[in-house]
Amino acid sequence: MRFIGNHSSGRQGLAIAYEALKAGADVTVIAGETDPFDLPGATVIKVQSAEDMLKVIDQNFVDADVLVMAAAVADFRVDKSSIVKLKKDELTHIALVQNPDILATMGAKKRSHQVIVGFAAETAHDIENLGLKKMQGKGADLLFVNDVSGGAVFGQEETTGLLLGMDIATRSFSNVSKYVVAEEIVKEVAKRLELHG
Ligand code: CTP
Repeated sequence: MRFIGNHSSGRQGLAIAYEALKAGADVTVIAGETDPFDLPGATVIKVQSAEDMLKVIDQNFVDADVLVMAAAVADFRVDKSSIVKLKKDELTHIALVQNPDILATMGAKKRSHQVIVGFAAETAHDIENLGLKKMQGKGADLLFVNDVSGGAVFGQEETTGLLLGMDIATRSFSNVSKYVVAEEIVKEVAKRLELHG
């Protein structure tokens, strides 16, 4: 009845899965709440919470070459949920606890042949520096930083932002289809996998 969520549709992650399948990859989609989708050829695992997502990703990452963390994971969850409806008079405050940071957890476990792609949502004007810090802090090789000022990007077909990498010049995208960004990310990932042999 009552829950904490966000406006993410999961479209960017699904576009990346689509482009990766097209490029011949074995794809596993680990998805929370998303718009309905059909990705023939992909293995799909649905999860309900950030903790479940971490568990399933952890199990799958061992044998994976690439992790793309496009999920808009909630940073916090309610400390105590209830299976019965709480009357509004009983609900005086909501205690929150922090969810695990899945990307950072996997970044710390990453082996040298593995490639990790992260995302970031920023509204400040200096999104490039914020993104670079986030990428390094979480151990990602590539990071797409979405400019979400004014509520842009979430739930939409198009996106605006910067593709950052430790070893590439920053690329800027303005109001392009999420598939355009997905294709570029898949290409960059493929280059790194070829380098690793
Ligand atoms: N992410 C994650 N686990 C979380 C929160 C986020 O794995 N609990 C991942 C997202 O999938 C994304 C990246 O971290 O790839 C960046 O998410 P973002 O919300 O921009 O950053 P935060 O780490 O939450 O930092 P802040 O809110 O302080 O900007």
